[in-house]
Amino acid sequence: MFNTMTITKAAGALIGALLFLLLANWAASGLYHVGPAGHGGGHGEDGELVQAYAIPVEDSGAAEPAEEAPQIDVAALMESADAAAGEREWGKCRACHKLDGTDGTGPHLDGIVGRPVGGVDGFAYSDGMASHGGEWTPELLITFLTNPRAEVPGTKMAFAGIRDPQAIAHLIAYLESQ
Ligand code: HEC
Repeated sequence: MFNTMTITKAAGALIGALLFLLLANWAASGLYHVGPAGHGGGHGEDGELVQAYAIPVEDSGAAEPAEEAPQIDVAALMESADAAAGEREWGKCRACHKLDGTDGTGPHLDGIVGRPVGGVDGFAYSDGMASHGGEWTPELLITFLTNPRAEVPGTKMAFAGIRDPQAIAHLIAYLESQ
């Protein structure tokens, strides 16, 4: 039926087509390589289509919470805050701060809770403090006093910080009592 030439041509075409598919597949898997499970064709291990590129989708909010610094329950800390314990913590601040409405190396801290950040008239704040904005809430005081330079870059307050948020809560209770 077929002469040798026809068979050779057909075989050649078939091999050519196979070679083309092989190359296309190889190129595709190279272009759209997806993770360790991804191999040619964009199919995952279970045959499901694997997304070859990320499509930004609005987060429904149901996703697991982003990993952040451990959340501090300020309300609970303030609940168990003890002004007497805070007075002992105050020893770390008194070299620079006063509670009688006059300023020292640092601004006076009587009435600090609820006061605007950098809000003492006539005190020469750093640019970072002057431009911070907002007011001193217990939350902000805890963040600031944990690591002053992280919350207020370039702050003039030469103080490393207090690690224990409960100790800071004690201190805030003491300051509020002044
Ligand atoms: C070595 C001196 C020093 C010590 C110690 C120190 N501070 Fe300060 N503090 C300052 C200075 C200076 C500023 C002004 C910072 C600026 O302008 O960047 C300041 C600013 C502040 C402010 C912002 C006040 C405002 O008016 O916005 C708070 C709150 C504060 N200090 C709390 C404390 C507490 C609480 C302690 C003790 C745990 C403490 N500081 C220890 C020097 C000090």
